[in-house]
Amino acid sequence: MEYFVFLILLIGYAALFYVIYSVYSLLKGRFGVFAPYVPSVGKSKKNMLDLARAELLQAEKQMTVIDLGSGSGSLLLPLAKEFPDHRFIGIEYDWILILVSLFRSRKLKNIEWHKQNFMNYSCEKADIVFCYLLKTMQERVGLKLAREISDSCVVITELYPVNHLRLVKAVKPAFNLGIPVYKMRK
Ligand SMILES: C[S@@+](CC[C@H](N)C(=O)[O-])C[C@H]1O[C@@H](n2cnc3c(N)ncnc32)[C@H](O)[C@@H]1O
Repeated sequence: MEYFVFLILLIGYAALFYVIYSVYSLLKGRFGVFAPYVPSVGKSKKNMLDLARAELLQAEKQMTVIDLGSGSGSLLLPLAKEFPDHRFIGIEYDWILILVSLFRSRKLKNIEWHKQNFMNYSCEKADIVFCYLLKTMQERVGLKLAREISDSCVVITELYPVNHLRLVKAVKPAFNLGIPVYKMRK
């Protein structure tokens, strides 16, 4: 009986923390100006990773992969483990998520995290850029990337495509049940 009460309390506290954190994340993103924390999961995460893997597998030099809004590191961590010779950089303005990412990557040497607004981080040296876009971000992020990235850089984005870049491939879920993923270039 005591264990059952303990379990219910634990679930209750976790749910309460999640609600409070979601409100904090929405406030930080100024209610839609920037994306709140929603982890990449399921099929869309797999599609993002597969598009990046295809590029990394055929790389002839060390590649730099940048995640704009890296959250808890769900995209960069599996790739950094799989490709130890490439470099992975996560940009995230929420220190809680930076701490989570630092802890999760404590054994990896090829990954780094920067706590800052990604609009102020240059993507000039990127070979692959990940981002998760809301409609309100398409124009600003598109202008930034079109100005900064090289012709060989690939941008892989979840939810919405980026303005001012060329669409190379769209991976859409069947019956629109899920999150689309787009591969884009300059
Ligand atoms: C939809 S989540 C992406 C989550 C990530 N792919 C994952 O699986 O953990 C978007 C993330 O971008 C961060 N973010 C939004 N706008 C940002 C900005 N201007 N600079 C830095 N981080 C930002 C949010 O805090 C959030 O963690």
